[in-house]
Amino acid sequence: MNILITGSNGQLGNEMRVLSAQHPRHNYFFTDVAELDITNRQAVSAFVSSYAIDLIVNCAAYTNVDKAEEDEVTAHKINAEALSVLGSQGVRVIHISTDYVFSGKACVPYRETDSAAPNTVYGRTKYEGEKLLLAACPEAVILRTAWLYSSFGNNFVKTMIRLGHERESLGVVFDQIGTPTYAADLAQAIFTVIESPVWHPGIYHFTNEGVISWYDFTKAIHALIGINNCHVSPISSEEYQYRTPRPHYSVLDKSKFKKTFNVEIPYWLDGLKRCIEKLNTEF
Ligand SMILES: NC(=O)c1ccc[n+]([C@@H]2O[C@H](COP(=O)([O-])OP(=O)(O)OC[C@H]3O[C@@H](n4cnc5c(N)ncnc54)[C@H](OP(=O)(O)O)[C@@H]3O)[C@@H](O)[C@H]2O)c1
Repeated sequence: MNILITGSNGQLGNEMRVLSAQHPRHNYFFTDVAELDITNRQAVSAFVSSYAIDLIVNCAAYTNVDKAEEDEVTAHKINAEALSVLGSQGVRVIHISTDYVFSGKACVPYRETDSAAPNTVYGRTKYEGEKLLLAACPEAVILRTAWLYSSFGNNFVKTMIRLGHERESLGVVFDQIGTPTYAADLAQAIFTVIESPVWHPGIYHFTNEGVISWYDFTKAIHALIGINNCHVSPISSEEYQYRTPRPHYSVLDKSKFKKTFNVEIPYWLDGLKRCIEKLNTEF
């Protein structure tokens, strides 16, 4: 297959590039906005026909939750309108969405059939993107994920490592619950979908296994790195004063993905250990 990967300079796109080496029977076209702007319908159509693309894996997105509140037009173009562009190319699409499509007010893991109720611009535009994609391409696969981190790009893990080295104390929220997800494991899930002998369209939830707060996650990151001189204390979301409201509950039920593709999913701590090992070998 000829596979187009968009947004390939991001966390997930880079992990797709790494993992593609283990799947050499496909041809890959890794692009980011400089090579292929997913909002440009003409450019996308020309690329797909020039390179006889069979499958698009969309890793591109407008992911800055705070900035999206002030720049809804751009967020909507990239997270929503572009999905109608990608979905109307006559090829299969695997797209990544987010826990932010939900309200975050639940207390049991969200299933794919639960009603979306986004309360941020980022969440609303991502939800709109899901709907536009499915309208244009009912055969699409959408994987909703949450709390993504990687050895590539900027993310919570790297921020907590930096702050742990810089500061003597740190307050981290304990009242937001979710599952940290190593982007390498999400990339593996995408390859599970690609390599499946049967194409199973639809919406799926995929994160690592387990449930913790950002506070617990920080404690685990510091323990694995060996940061002992930074006191981490639990604070509430109210104390942190986010510019944009964050979901209190982001846990996704992954039963459908596991059952459909017959796979086990790694525990969040195992993913974190692998990411930190990789970071340690890079420095
Ligand atoms: N990060 C998370 O915690 C999280 C959680 C849940 C779901 N997700 C979803 O997971 C997916 C992957 O996230 P990620 O963390 O890997 O994102 P990321 O690191 O922000 O990467 C996104 C990439 O897309 C590029 N891009 C932006 N606009 C584009 C355009 N018009 N055309 C082509 N490329 C464009 C970005 O370039 P610039 O950097 O230059 O803008 C960036 O390289 C996204 O769909 C995201 O919504 C992420």
